[in-house]
Amino acid sequence: MSSLIKNICCIGAGYVGGPTMAVIADKCPEILVNVVDINEERINLWNSLNLDLLPIYEPGLDNLIKKRRNKNLFFSTKLEDNISKADMIFISVNTPTKKKGVGAGKASDLKWVEACARQVAKYSKGYTIVVEKSTLPVKTAEVIKTILEASQLSPDDKEKKFDVLSNPEFLAEGTAIKDLEYPDRVLIGGENKKAINSLTDIYKNWVPINKILHTNIWSSELAKITANAFLAQRISSINSIGAICEATGADVREVARAIGSDSRIGSKFLDAGPGFGGSCFKKDILNLVYLSNYFGLNEVANFWEGVVLLNKWHQHRITRLIIKKLLGTVTGKKICILGFAFKANTNDTRESASINICKDLLEEGAVLQIHDPKVDPKQIEVNLGKKENKKIKEIKDQNYFQLEGQWSFEKDITISSDGADAIVVLTEWDEYSKINWFAISKKMRKPSWVFDVRSIVSRTKVLEANINLWKIGDGTNN
Ligand code: NAD
Ligand code: UDX
Repeated sequence: MSSLIKNICCIGAGYVGGPTMAVIADKCPEILVNVVDINEERINLWNSLNLDLLPIYEPGLDNLIKKRRNKNLFFSTKLEDNISKADMIFISVNTPTKKKGVGAGKASDLKWVEACARQVAKYSKGYTIVVEKSTLPVKTAEVIKTILEASQLSPDDKEKKFDVLSNPEFLAEGTAIKDLEYPDRVLIGGENKKAINSLTDIYKNWVPINKILHTNIWSSELAKITANAFLAQRISSINSIGAICEATGADVREVARAIGSDSRIGSKFLDAGPGFGGSCFKKDILNLVYLSNYFGLNEVANFWEGVVLLNKWHQHRITRLIIKKLLGTVTGKKICILGFAFKANTNDTRESASINICKDLLEEGAVLQIHDPKVDPKQIEVNLGKKENKKIKEIKDQNYFQLEGQWSFEKDITISSDGADAIVVLTEWDEYSKINWFAISKKMRKPSWVFDVRSIVSRTKVLEANINLWKIGDGTNN
């Protein structure tokens, strides 16, 4: 299908911009796709010949990059040049929670989006369709439009024309390519039919037309935040029930199966775990809380804030529980942490439950050996605000007291379990479900514990290996 759009520029080469543009380039070989970013180091990694060095780990992404890069998919820092050539511009930059000023801690920080709008206003030529790909608070399109329209007032820029569309992205990390290739729906919000059709024509190359939804622009912006709020709410709901299961002898997996069989509830997103992480859920709910308060809807705000508060409580609850099982103290005890990414199949650690749980354990004086198949130890250093201490690996005879509150990275799970009192499974990486517990048990100090916070290890195998097991949401733990 041929589209009116021949040249796309995507501003922001992150977890959304990179994979989304790789799929568009693959499905629409006649469109030239330029992904630009101010972060030169990130762009260099996107251009690296060794595909293991791509800045994002996402199954299937390396194949797409290999296929399309330098054919119709380009990564560069040349914003001015690529904006001026584009007839459609995707804004795909980060929109984190504001750290200071009005709305701090809740509202989205839109400084990067505003910066993009100003760059588009300055460098674009002729008619340009500007697409909000980032998740944005309702009414952000108004801000973008105001900036773009102001640029049209200058006598030199009379030929500039813009339309703004909202086209939020629903991909989840770890399954991004599949989500992009077979989306449940594509949402396009806007006013101008011609602009909406231009974007629809691109998606029509691989998405059935009945899955491409058109709404007004504000519904589209709000639908994205609402989807994340509903999904996160399910996780807080099941984790809250998991705590009741542990107290009563019920099993959260059995409860989830029973309620999930009700077609009105559905079986997805009911896995109890260490609490939701990732760059989106907390930020987007807090944004909804801010919006509700702004409109005087305080009860609505409190309702949604509860989802985030429960998540935070739940993460601290897990640490308290580990301490209790380890005879009331973890000071000077070695604990192996399996998994630092916020979920499996990504190298992203943003808002990962592992960050809070590790920080709590370090604060209590534990000595941590952290393993993750894809996360760079330098990233863990940034998240924990603490340098790695490699001396942990040299400690003999359980003399960990001298390194209280320190951590190090270990690639080999068997080595990291040497002398450990406990292993805590925090990310559901497939390899953690295949661990040889007999071999690990021989290395650990007794009594040893496995805390299975993702419910992925075999109860029988762990118990047969003479290791105590605590499983999330399992009332038979006690
Ligand atoms: P990210 O931090 O991975 O990437 C954003 C990129 O934008 C960074 O590389 C940054 O350098 C670049 N950038 C910022 N300002 C710029 C500017 N003025 N010019 C050029 N580049 C600039 O973020 P992300 O995870 O890709 O998220 C982007 C947006 O998509 C956010 O609004 C997020 O809420 C939304 N979203 C994310 C996901 C996800 O799974 N990560 C899913 C759906 C939607
Ligand atoms: C989410 C949304 O799913 C996606 O549509 C949106 O575009 C971006 O935000 P993402 O954060 O990448 O995607 O991953 P997701 O699969 O939603 O998981 C979020 C968190 O919830 C992870 O920490 C995950 O481990 C946790 N989770 C998910 C559970 O604890 N239990 C579940 O049943 C599902």
